[in-house]
Amino acid sequence: MTTDHGGDVRLTGISKTYDNGFTAVRPLDLTVPQGSFFALLGASGCGKTTTLRMIAGLEEPTTGTVLLGDQDVTSLPPYKRPVNTVFQSYALFPHLDIFENIAFGLRRRGIKSVKKQVDEMLDLVQLGEHARKKPHQLSGGQQQRVAVARALINHPKVLLLDEPLGALDLKLRRQMQLELKRIQTEVGITFIHVTHDQEEAMTMADTVAVMNAGVVEQLGAPTDLYENPRSTFVANFLGTSNFIEAEIAGRAGDELTLRAGDGKLSLPAERCSADTGAGGKVLVGVRPEKISLTHADDAGTIPEDRNRITGTIADSSFIGVSTQYVIDTPLSDSFEVYAQNIERDGRLTPGAEVVLHWNPAHTFGLDADQDAEAGVEKVSEDTAA
Ligand SMILES: Nc1ncnc2c1ncn2[C@@H]1O[C@H](COP(=O)(O)OP(=O)(O)OP(=O)(O)O)[C@@H](O)[C@H]1O
Ligand SMILES: [Mg+2]
Repeated sequence: MTTDHGGDVRLTGISKTYDNGFTAVRPLDLTVPQGSFFALLGASGCGKTTTLRMIAGLEEPTTGTVLLGDQDVTSLPPYKRPVNTVFQSYALFPHLDIFENIAFGLRRRGIKSVKKQVDEMLDLVQLGEHARKKPHQLSGGQQQRVAVARALINHPKVLLLDEPLGALDLKLRRQMQLELKRIQTEVGITFIHVTHDQEEAMTMADTVAVMNAGVVEQLGAPTDLYENPRSTFVANFLGTSNFIEAEIAGRAGDELTLRAGDGKLSLPAERCSADTGAGGKVLVGVRPEKISLTHADDAGTIPEDRNRITGTIADSSFIGVSTQYVIDTPLSDSFEVYAQNIERDGRLTPGAEVVLHWNPAHTFGLDADQDAEAGVEKVSEDTAA
């Protein structure tokens, strides 16, 4: 491991209260390692753009500092920071061709011989053959790549991207996600990408910071956040989670034993972010795709060491790659279970008595004082779109 944090972006105690008294970002400490692809993920209005604008110097923080490497840039104007931004409305110059759009930053700095650098950028974003076209002759995705090239030509240390793919349709978005990831790997500079789309953040970023109401709720690699969420907001915002209220009955080694209704569940202690003392209340979470369904008649075939609860199928929808079940259980209604369509048990239809079971290692435990529905709204809105 290197200890050289020379190029990290470090926000310390940064906050923003606007003139009208509204606090958009609460005091926030955040380190973005040099060369990483970092995503700020959160619902509309949670303070993502405000945070990005404070890094860019477009917004003055109310408290705190912005450091780039060892340099405190908090009071530097935007053009003196080694940072560039790509916005959702990428606003290319319509009267200039693609080559000149990309060359703009160099020309403004008085650089005469721009051809070599512009050609490199055109190669990077794979638009060489379009150099002499005007922006309106390009597709949305191509225009977006021009905006990226234009922002990268001055070799910023950090590229900020604020919902850069927001104007594109879903298919193009997917392509551009991979494209941006490739470009970032190739140039190796820090990308800080703002999005409200959890799949986009997980696809692209090495590290995701989940923001909620001006606060970073949790930060980590996409798999960490998904597999081991520390709040109901994160659990619900990144995908779907089922929750059961339970009480800690005891502990055996690294495993907590929980009492839920008249049943028992196990939970690895390290996956519990609530107080783990006996009698403590926890919200037990498990993702729908981790759960297996077995018809009640075959309950005897389920290995002993699985977590299990019984229920009745309330609804099932076949969606091709999987079947999505809604199960009523005594502990919680509308438990969701996704079963991959490998072999389908014809008995698993609405009304059937079933056992839901899963590997205890896939269970997570959260503080029971939270709203189990936090962050849910946004996900269903996205699914509907
Ligand atoms: N100039 C301003 N004055 C007062 N309030 C503001 C100002 N700019 C933003 N806000 C408020 O601050 C909050 C955070 O705004 P911000 O633009 O950072 O959100 P965001 O996370 O980028 O949202 P979105 O996903 O919709 O772009 C919002 O509630 C917004 O209304
Ligand atoms: Mg925004």
